[in-house]
Amino acid sequence: MFTRESKLRFFKHFYQLFFNSHPEIKTLFEHTDFEKQTTLLKHALSMAIMFAEDDNDLAKSVLTQIRKSHSRTKLNIKPKYYALWLNCLMHTFWVCDPQFNQALEKNWRTLLQISIDYIREGY
Ligand code: HEM
Repeated sequence: MFTRESKLRFFKHFYQLFFNSHPEIKTLFEHTDFEKQTTLLKHALSMAIMFAEDDNDLAKSVLTQIRKSHSRTKLNIKPKYYALWLNCLMHTFWVCDPQFNQALEKNWRTLLQISIDYIREGY
């Protein structure tokens, strides 16, 4: 069972790792409200899983919004950053969830890659 505190710890750990993964990444989040961002990312992760698993209209529309906001003309998130994002997320699972294992990592990677490919194609 995940408490609110453990979820916050998870996302704090994730962003710390992600910021240190590339010098440009920290600057991209210079003006970000992290409480808000954490809620948005939590929601987006569920949507990304639903998007990959079934034909869900809500998930598709959320992913389409993210695809637009992360494109060249908006946030300009370079395609190469998504591999870092995914690696940092997986690393965070290993650190924060004692029950995480290789089979789970494989499933997460496979599912999230589908959403990542969709977002990146909109760059
Ligand atoms: C599948 C991967 C990702 C998902 C699901 C995701 C999701 C989101 C969501 C839901 C938001 C807030 C709403 C919006 O602006 O659309 C957001 C904002 C943002 N994302 Fe992502 N993101 C992903 C990957 C990345 C990557 C790789 C970067 C690279 C640095 C990034 C950088 C940002 C930035 C800079 C913001 C704006 C933060 C602010 O409001 O100041 N994202 N992302």
